[in-house]
Amino acid sequence: MRSSLWMGTVALAAVPFALLNAQPKPGAFTVPRGLPPIVWPKDNPYSAAKVELGRLLYFDKRISADGTLSCATCHHPAKGFTDQAQFSTGIKGQVGGINSPTVINRAYGAIQFWDGRASSLEDQAVGPMANPIEMGNTHPVVVETLRKIPGYRARFKSVFGTEDFTLDHIAKAIATFERTVLSGNSPYDKYKLGNKAALNASQVRGMDVFFNKAKCDQCHEGASFTLNSFHNLGVGQDKASPEPGRFAVTKNPADFGAFKTPTLREIEHTFPYMHDGSLKTLEEVVEYYDKGGIPNKNLDERIKKLNLTAQDKADLVAFMKSLSGTGWQQLTEPKEFPK
Ligand code: HEC
Ligand code: HEC
Repeated sequence: MRSSLWMGTVALAAVPFALLNAQPKPGAFTVPRGLPPIVWPKDNPYSAAKVELGRLLYFDKRISADGTLSCATCHHPAKGFTDQAQFSTGIKGQVGGINSPTVINRAYGAIQFWDGRASSLEDQAVGPMANPIEMGNTHPVVVETLRKIPGYRARFKSVFGTEDFTLDHIAKAIATFERTVLSGNSPYDKYKLGNKAALNASQVRGMDVFFNKAKCDQCHEGASFTLNSFHNLGVGQDKASPEPGRFAVTKNPADFGAFKTPTLREIEHTFPYMHDGSLKTLEEVVEYYDKGGIPNKNLDERIKKLNLTAQDKADLVAFMKSLSGTGWQQLTEPKEFPK
């Protein structure tokens, strides 16, 4: 009896947490296999009704000044929650100067934007509404517009207990929806969970290049393949007026040209790559790392010539494609919006 109990405990301890977590609890939110549970903020807990309200707001073009753009315009589910463009086009056809990152798995990183200037998804969500080249609106007008829609008043009432909702409630609902935009259960996850047939031979070799030969996991580490840390790879730093990146927030000259490490989940769908969208394919990204980035005074010490073989490069690309999974494809545009 004792020994079988002991055996049971050992067996249980050997099961990866993500597998245990795959058993849905009623009323709880289940993450795809291979991902850790979501840590819901104390002041913004999960509820299914809040996710649905957030989804409506995320896709609702009435949030923009002229009713032409929603969050999904630049972070579209059909495009891996990006816009697959080098730069996004905002209100009145204005083109921005930085690539639109994916919303997928942002639940696992507190700090948002390439330079980390927002400290939560709640903080981030209100930015684009009042950005003159994105949604071009003002916060008071967003609140006023939505408060005039009885369908929204009813939904905010049932989720937050008040019809007279504020910008804070809007941000909380959108952020809650975003925390459900996840990717896991990829061939890589299945392989890690014991299905050795989930990766092909090239992908297995590429995994070795990623973790051992090229040590990409020095920055792309953890379930989402990012430590959410800032690094200078030299991208765009040879331009006449390069993007300042993290320097814009810290004002520390050593941070000039450093950007937040992006997730590699769904990477085959979130092209083009880097903060300036300057690299079109994963092959180009691998070439960029192989040559040791672009020299500049703040180049990260981990970025150096890699001397990869042609086979290594092809395998590395194949491995990155094994990081495409599920958890986000079912999140589509609502058929109807509150009236
Ligand atoms: C016109 C295009 C556009 C629209 C509309 C837009 N975004 Fe973005 N989004 C961007 C760009 C470009 C960035 C990167 C900006 C930067 O880092 O400076 C970004 C960054 C983000 C990030 C940070 C991701 C990360 O990895 O740090 C999140 C989250 C996000 N947007 C969500 C939203 C939400 C929610 C809305 C709607 C309220 C929205 N976006 C509307 C283009 C857009
Ligand atoms: C020193 C930290 C670091 C190392 C090591 C590193 N990366 Fe990155 N990676 C980053 C940062 C930071 C960015 C964004 C840089 C920018 O836009 O200026 C990035 C961007 C990328 C992108 C583009 C992501 C996107 O959404 O645009 C890919 C793909 C990528 N890295 C793959 C790799 C591979 C493969 C390796 C190993 C050969 C590697 N990285 C090694 C930090 C690192």
